[in-house]
Amino acid sequence: MEQTLPLRQKVLWPDLSLAQLMLPEDSNGIHLGAFIPQQREHVAVISLFIEPLPIDNKSHHCLDNVSPASNDADLQIQPGVMVRFRKFACEPDYQGYGIGTRLLRYALSIARDELHGSILWCDARVTAVDWYTRRGMSVTGRSFYKGPVEYVA
Ligand SMILES: CC(C)(COP(=O)(O)OP(=O)(O)OC[C@H]1O[C@@H](n2cnc3c(N)ncnc32)[C@H](O)[C@@H]1OP(=O)(O)O)[C@@H](O)C(=O)NCCC(=O)NCCS
Repeated sequence: MEQTLPLRQKVLWPDLSLAQLMLPEDSNGIHLGAFIPQQREHVAVISLFIEPLPIDNKSHHCLDNVSPASNDADLQIQPGVMVRFRKFACEPDYQGYGIGTRLLRYALSIARDELHGSILWCDARVTAVDWYTRRGMSVTGRSFYKGPVEYVA
């Protein structure tokens, strides 16, 4: 898990310390990294947690927000628990080469095959929503802020 922290910081929350980027639930998560030849360090990270999709629509933090489309066989996951992904980030120099797509697909396969997940969801930065929707996911709620960063719920 500790290995994910520098990319979380560099790509997602540069103003926070590494310690601040540790989640209380990290010790229960599955942390995945993408590696490329000739590069010892991972270039992208994503973390998976078994966590129900909040349904209390009185709080827009609880209407999180991205779920897999049912018409893409690769993205389908079987009935079971709900899996949340967090801290998805790709090294800026390596963005746009398909690494994030492949890592997310791998994360989906872990959520489906190992965690027996029925839904994969996340809080999505508004800046990443189009990226997710192009991959068959959908927005189900309203926007909200985490600090200065706008998300959709
Ligand atoms: C979101 C993020 C993780 C995606 O990772 P990525 O590696 O850049 O994503 P990809 O390369 O798979 O996709 C980016 C684009 O490259 C294109 N692409 C895919 N394979 C490619 C290839 N082999 N060569 C060139 N371009 C390619 C894709 O078509 C995609 O474009 P599209 O979205 O218009 O379809 C990354 O951009 C990132 O870290 N962003 C900042 C942090 C962030 O917003 N995280 C999500 C928080 S909710």
